[in-house]
Amino acid sequence: MKLMIINGPNLNLLGKREPEVYGNTTFEEYFAELKKKFPQVELEYFQSNIEGELIQKIQEVGFDYDGIILNAAAYTHTSVGIGDAIKAVTTPVIEVHISNTHQREEYRHVSYISPVAKGVILGFGLQSYDLAIQSFLS
Ligand code: DQA
Repeated sequence: MKLMIINGPNLNLLGKREPEVYGNTTFEEYFAELKKKFPQVELEYFQSNIEGELIQKIQEVGFDYDGIILNAAAYTHTSVGIGDAIKAVTTPVIEVHISNTHQREEYRHVSYISPVAKGVILGFGLQSYDLAIQSFLS
């Protein structure tokens, strides 16, 4: 089982960024835990602050990998291009968010990813990623 986690803009600042919303753990620390927890999964991680690079990565892995776990961060609420990329590839995509975006500002209630994702997991903190991996295993 080969899974790719793709994180969008500002998620490189996890641990430092708004800790009351996103927690104190860096993604690198959490990713190391995930790898230990799921030794049977070939787990990779990519982060970019640039929309086109996220699209590029979706295209690159989207015909070979068993799953993509995507937190498009702010681009979730704006990117027709990322939505189109998900539609274009064959690998199923699970949309994840650390926070419960529906409890937050109204502009975060819209997602260009949800209509084309296999499923959506949000609001469980970093555990949202863990749950997404589990969904591919079950
Ligand atoms: C986020 C929620 C988005 O609204 C926000 O822009 C992010 C992170 C989350 O994981 O909770 O950067 O995707």
